[in-house]
Amino acid sequence: MVYQVYPRSFADSDGDGIGDLRGVLGKLDYLAALGIDVLWLSPFFPSPQDDNGYDVSDYQDVDPTFGTLADLDELLRRAHDHGIRVILDLVVNHTSDEHPWFVESRSSTTSPKRDWYWWRPARDGRPPNNWQSAFSGSAWELDEASGEYFLHLFSRRQPDLNWENPEVRQAIYSMMNWWLDRGVDGFRMDVINLISKVPGLPDGPLIAGGPLGDPWDGVVCGPRIHEFLQEMHRSVFAGRASTLLNVGEMPGVTVEEAVLFTDPARAQVDMVFQFEHVTMGPDKWGGTPASFSALKASIGRWQVGLAEIGWNSLYLSNHDQPRPVSRFGSDDPRWRVASACALATVVHLHRGTPYVYQGDEIGMTNAPFGSIEDYRDIESLNHFAHAVGVGQAPDDVLEILRGVSRDNARTPMQWSADPHAGFTTGSPWLAVNPNYVEVNAEAAMADPDSVWHHYRRLIALRHSEPVVALGDFTMLLPDHPTVYTFTRRLDDVVLTVVANLSSSPVDLDLTVGGEPLFVTGGPGADPAHLEPWEARVHRAG
Ligand code: NOJ
Repeated sequence: MVYQVYPRSFADSDGDGIGDLRGVLGKLDYLAALGIDVLWLSPFFPSPQDDNGYDVSDYQDVDPTFGTLADLDELLRRAHDHGIRVILDLVVNHTSDEHPWFVESRSSTTSPKRDWYWWRPARDGRPPNNWQSAFSGSAWELDEASGEYFLHLFSRRQPDLNWENPEVRQAIYSMMNWWLDRGVDGFRMDVINLISKVPGLPDGPLIAGGPLGDPWDGVVCGPRIHEFLQEMHRSVFAGRASTLLNVGEMPGVTVEEAVLFTDPARAQVDMVFQFEHVTMGPDKWGGTPASFSALKASIGRWQVGLAEIGWNSLYLSNHDQPRPVSRFGSDDPRWRVASACALATVVHLHRGTPYVYQGDEIGMTNAPFGSIEDYRDIESLNHFAHAVGVGQAPDDVLEILRGVSRDNARTPMQWSADPHAGFTTGSPWLAVNPNYVEVNAEAAMADPDSVWHHYRRLIALRHSEPVVALGDFTMLLPDHPTVYTFTRRLDDVVLTVVANLSSSPVDLDLTVGGEPLFVTGGPGADPAHLEPWEARVHRAG
């Protein structure tokens, strides 16, 4: 399984209020005790931090806020001593506008690097097409000096690289090789399925009620995406150790495309990190969330679709998503532990590679932020400004942000009941969730019934029981409104997972065979009667 560290919010070793690599080093024993196999580090590279490091200004160094290359080398060495592999976040759909490539590209229309980015003249005095950026507003920014626009699918400080240009691709492959030679074990590749744009950059379909269009048709899995990823594989991974890991973060990818991306015979990526189950419903900022059975149907479809060929990631959260216990479970103190354990049970026992986002293993919850000043995330701040600008009531927008803002995942890791949750001796860059007094790693590790110990047992089960990694998958009771149940089977061994994902008891018409391996959240005497958030795993064979 993979554990994701968001360095800014994990552990601060020098008291500046921002987490750093020496902070991660100090927590390696904690990660080893949890049993993790792979550590994914979100970006720590030099960056103006417009998007918390997903705007990279130098791919081959460490931002002084996070430490030095020597710290990273030590982290690699000591992680390897623990048997933990380390993968880096590779953000190459775009750079920072402070990256020397972009500075050069912007300097003149005849710059040799002009074509490394997407520069276009105005169309009738307006941006070259109607695409909207993921962070609100047009995806095009006017450069006053040249009178041309550049494309940025994310913030205006994250210009998109032009992967059509072979020099861009070679520069990226050479940087990736430099990191692998240094000892990193692979990459999680940020929005990698957006790198091939449809020729001509056509307008996208209008987004309801606004003048801007959806760029997704023009950028998701564009015409040359498989060619680019195969070329990358040949230029970077071929001939190296088979233990390297190459994860493609792919918003909007379909099951059918995912099979093509992860078919080992096609040599592209080892697994996809897709979003269907966490982005179901009309729009991130409003509308009715998808029903529970639609969520099960989505996850089940991916299980079936990648059963023979391909591989998927298993997760409910990361640094861009709200906390799962608040979103899919219950953060009411009565149910927090039981619901976090039930959700983890369901996620970890599917087929695929589980990801644990820092803090989920102690059941951290969404942040109780009161005003827009409490937020730091560019997506949240831009959305607030945009929504209020078009007439929505600020309190209504804040209510939505409390449920979905990315800052929910980014509050500092809660290590102990010490001031600032033991995250920093300084003043944290984003407020600590006040529930740290009860919800913290020290308390969780001391309690055998905690969320932490449940995660540890689930991770250990995957290591000891081949059926967890390799067994086939069958969804049971697909239309049940609150129960999530399935089997995994390998030869004669059958695991049955059954979880009541609701705060009301439920009686089931289901025979659960075998011996119970785990029962959480309930007395567990009768598998046909589940208490609120009760989850059980039975093993037969
Ligand atoms: C996906 C990353 O997970 C997110 O945090 C970031 O803002 C965008 N890509 C842009 O890099």
